[in-house]
Amino acid sequence: MWSWIDANRKRTSGHRQGAPSRRRDHGTGSGGVPHVASPLVPDLRETLKSATAAVLAGARADLERLVRIPSIWADPAHADDTHRSAAAVAELARGAGATSVRIVAADGGAPAVIAHWPPPPGQPTVLLYAHHDVQPTGGDEHWTSPPFEPTERDGRLYGRGAADDKAGVMTHLAVLHAYHGTPPVGVTLFIEGEEESGSPTLTTLLAEHRDLLTADVIVIADAANPAVDVPALTTSLRGLVDCTVEVAMLERPVHSGMSGGPAGDALTALCRLMASLHDAKGEVVVPGLVHGSSDAPDMDEAMFRSDAGLLDGVELLGCGSIPERIWHKPAIAVLGIDAPRVDQASNVLVPRARAMVSLRIAPGDDPVAAQRALTAHLGAHVPWGAQLTVTPGAGGAPFSLHTVGSPYDAARRAFAEAFGNDVVETGMGGSIPFIAEFARTFPGAAVLVTGVGDPASRWHGIDESLDLQMFGRGVLAEALLLAELAR
Ligand code: BES
Ligand code: MN
Ligand code: MN
Repeated sequence: MWSWIDANRKRTSGHRQGAPSRRRDHGTGSGGVPHVASPLVPDLRETLKSATAAVLAGARADLERLVRIPSIWADPAHADDTHRSAAAVAELARGAGATSVRIVAADGGAPAVIAHWPPPPGQPTVLLYAHHDVQPTGGDEHWTSPPFEPTERDGRLYGRGAADDKAGVMTHLAVLHAYHGTPPVGVTLFIEGEEESGSPTLTTLLAEHRDLLTADVIVIADAANPAVDVPALTTSLRGLVDCTVEVAMLERPVHSGMSGGPAGDALTALCRLMASLHDAKGEVVVPGLVHGSSDAPDMDEAMFRSDAGLLDGVELLGCGSIPERIWHKPAIAVLGIDAPRVDQASNVLVPRARAMVSLRIAPGDDPVAAQRALTAHLGAHVPWGAQLTVTPGAGGAPFSLHTVGSPYDAARRAFAEAFGNDVVETGMGGSIPFIAEFARTFPGAAVLVTGVGDPASRWHGIDESLDLQMFGRGVLAEALLLAELAR
């Protein structure tokens, strides 16, 4: 079977070239790096290559500093750490020459950083987005090295947030350093602190700071590349609807032999209810959800299985090509269950149990409609008259875009130049609720979704890591992009 990446490599082979030189030179700026807009004459490309290479060691040290802060906003015990993390990002922004730096938060929301590098006359403003909050570790004891002690092994930097998304934060800051604090376009740095919680106060933040965040182009450094030397331009992301599902069967725990049989238990009822979400092949069967399609070349199944860590003999769920299933169809997973622990279980019927259900929704679907569809399905399938309570949790809209227009052409040139391979336009199965929210607030802005993850990054998992060579390519790519975006 054709591999997605090999197919692309084949397509790109033979014409690795630099950016075409069509526009005029706008002179040299004051910051040590020439502020040449376009064309990206070979001189400027070489200057940016050495300028980005020169800042990498510092950027990596700053990244380590950020990774040491356990900014798990979703865990109230780490609220102070998330504030420390925002303060550290703000300080790094000042160090990278920002003319204004603010830490902002909506009522009850996480701290976000907004910093500015004003545009040279006539130049557009580019908003650079990333998030400084991270996922929980999943158990520090499972990590090869402690999650908040950044550690290098075989060219990769390991630590929670080393990839998702403190690498995104540091990509932007490294680029600003490479330009010695005077980029060729206006830059607004926006570093969110609650992305991993579904960005619950983002709408408020965008409304309160609309003027500070207005931009012509937005660059999101929070996605992944298909390989460390193959850059991706993300064309779609799924949305997300989380909910807590509770079933109650009994007033209290009762002897499982005295009453068991005619009286059932809540955990079994919950299992039956969860089993109603898929058919036998694993296709999601909740009515009313959008199922899209894709004609993207299929991924190599063996490569997918190994990236996903599927055990031998375990089947793939659902139907359609693998990209179609990941990017354009809904997926449902049970992320957690509250129930007695096995080593503490006793012979009583469990009176109530609850599960965290996560529904990924396809581009074109709507979180409110999807939540309603899921709730209706659960209500129709709860067995044995058990009492059901569904509580909506984090949510976010899906997103898709057409990469037509000069900012996208600029990105394709810049990324191909930095990575040595043509850009792959690709969907992603993950979600970034910020994007749809931002696009709704600023409908005229072009949105570029990039990032420095790769299939080995293990985002959200044990032993998350960043490929340091790819980090360097990502920094150069974004530096070239800003030069290309300058008029
Ligand atoms: N960076 C990820 C999303 C992502 C992953 C995009 C891989 C592209 C490729 C982001 O930090 C994330 O994890 N988002 C959450 C959103 C949720 C909490 C609303 C997700 O997808 O689970
Ligand atoms: Mn992320
Ligand atoms: Mn994440």
